[in-house]
Amino acid sequence: MKTISDINVELFSGIPHANLDVEKAAAYISKIAERLPFEKSTELSKIDWHGKTVVEAGCGAGFKCLPMALNGANVIGIDGSKAQVGRAREHAKAVGVDAEFHVSRLENILSMWQAKNLPKADLIICSAVIHHVSGWRTLVEQLNEILKPGGWLYLTWCDWTLSLSGFNFKNQIAFKSGWNAGSRLAIGKALFGWVDKGRNRMNLPDDSFYADLYSAYYIPISAGRMRKQLNANDLEICESFPPMDVQGWLKKPGGVSERNLKLVRQIPGWLTERLVRWRYYFITAHAPRIFVCKRIQKKPRVE
Ligand SMILES: C[S@@+](CC[C@H](N)C(=O)[O-])C[C@H]1O[C@@H](n2cnc3c(N)ncnc32)[C@H](O)[C@@H]1O
Repeated sequence: MKTISDINVELFSGIPHANLDVEKAAAYISKIAERLPFEKSTELSKIDWHGKTVVEAGCGAGFKCLPMALNGANVIGIDGSKAQVGRAREHAKAVGVDAEFHVSRLENILSMWQAKNLPKADLIICSAVIHHVSGWRTLVEQLNEILKPGGWLYLTWCDWTLSLSGFNFKNQIAFKSGWNAGSRLAIGKALFGWVDKGRNRMNLPDDSFYADLYSAYYIPISAGRMRKQLNANDLEICESFPPMDVQGWLKKPGGVSERNLKLVRQIPGWLTERLVRWRYYFITAHAPRIFVCKRIQKKPRVE
């Protein structure tokens, strides 16, 4: 029987990510390199990545790790799909950078790291992939082992505690009602295509756009559970988008109005924490959650 990982890797092998030809992909990667691929993170944008080891776990066609290579980082990309790794290698050549790519399931990333004697990372990018892996908790443990002390993890996934769980709700219905990629896509498109079609800003063909939403499987992972697992390892959350608590909310770009600040001071702390979480559950229009984490040394360990 196929695992979640088999289904997802097979599916993404058939989707040319973002559906760009090599020339357009190279232009896109060069543009991202100008501002680095970290949406919103101020911590990571401040760092000079030149000469640092940057690993992308689930690199796809290299749209996040190759901009780092253009900024002088030593890049290692891992993906379960041979086809995606092939695209990433083509894109590296097109933008004129050296980057190392390996085909491996993320479930085996630590044993592969040890077998190939790969260097520990200053930064791991794990973007839009952990919800596709069989055993996301184990992946967090393995990524922690691959990071240097003081290294960073840039983690994004579809958090079901955002935007009324709408993204996961539609994915679960379409995925569980269908029996293969084609039927899931057809069911999802018929039921929810009218709601989601406006999100296709890159004008991708239906086969790519809807397959990602309905034929891939997204494991529902809440921000609370992810936070617990990161904290159980040595990973401290330094930034969260959207914010997870009042402190993060007060720091959000654009600031908070004087009236809201006064209100926050009058309400007990436990209630404001919940209000922040509810605000993003009911009001946010996007499901992706971004956590920027730092590996801290909680307990003595042999490196
Ligand atoms: C949505 S793409 C994200 C690509 C890239 N991280 C980005 O943000 O542009 C998901 C990628 O994860 C890979 N993937 C999914 N499950 C995987 C697994 N269990 N092991 C390795 N790669 C996996 C897929 O092959 C695909 O390339």
